[in-house]
Amino acid sequence: MSAAREDAPLRCEGLARSFGGLQAVAGVSLALPAGQVTALVGPNGAGKTTLFNLITGNLRADAGAAWVRGRPITGLKPWQVARLGVARSFQDLRLFTHMTVRDNVLAATERSAWFWQPGGAAGRKRRQAAAEAALEATGLAALAGARAIDLAYAERKFLSLARILAAEADIWLLDEPASGLDPASRTRFAELLRAATGRGVAICLIEHNLDVVAELSDRIAFLDQGRVIAEGDPRSILRDPALAAIYFGDRHEPATAAAETTA
Ligand SMILES: Nc1ncnc2c1ncn2[C@@H]1O[C@H](COP(=O)(O)OP(=O)(O)O)[C@@H](O)[C@H]1O
Ligand SMILES: [Mg+2]
Repeated sequence: MSAAREDAPLRCEGLARSFGGLQAVAGVSLALPAGQVTALVGPNGAGKTTLFNLITGNLRADAGAAWVRGRPITGLKPWQVARLGVARSFQDLRLFTHMTVRDNVLAATERSAWFWQPGGAAGRKRRQAAAEAALEATGLAALAGARAIDLAYAERKFLSLARILAAEADIWLLDEPASGLDPASRTRFAELLRAATGRGVAICLIEHNLDVVAELSDRIAFLDQGRVIAEGDPRSILRDPALAAIYFGDRHEPATAAAETTA
């Protein structure tokens, strides 16, 4: 394994998970470098969300392991993984719909499952400042007092991002955060990601729109049937006709990419 892979803030080796007879994730090894967006691309059902769930402890792995900055996280609970600096968004957002926008963001800054928080009054001030900065950065400051349930679709997606920003994590796992955004929102989203990678955040982005992938990602890992079948720079992956055939649902093309790039 290369030194770069060893040094990555987050990496996994051989992660696997079956549901009954279905191998949803079939031995995935991946490293997320600091300061880069790694796009996780693949057809529906490829295992992308399940891979996130295995990393974050939302699902138990049948095999394999994952590390945050060299520390094993296999078997940890989701809140323990979050405390190590891994923030995650969900495809279905999972906001506290009847809480205000501000309280949704504040809740994401809490580092402990307990009512009391470490750091006392100074810690609380710091969390409040982080929440306000996240609201500002995502354009939600004016809506801070609204209930999450009353937000428009794009605003809810930005609220999910504001929660990640406020958590001050240096590893972000984003499950389709840009889907359904209008062009102006997409531009704002791109700026937020660039600002984060500029600070050294390691981002893994599940994204279906290949234009968004081309614009935002530094690397692509292409997942199919639970395996990473290609990994590399976006231009070469997006040009590969065999991968395009898999992605767009036409499997009659010869699968040359699989032979070339399996990790
Ligand atoms: N909790 C679950 N129980 C049973 N099957 C599941 C579960 N979660 C995911 N799957 C199945 O695992 C496969 C991968 O799903 P998923 O990781 O959601 O794919 P993706 O996010 O790439 O679209 C799919 O066939 C899906 O139906
Ligand atoms: Mg998914």
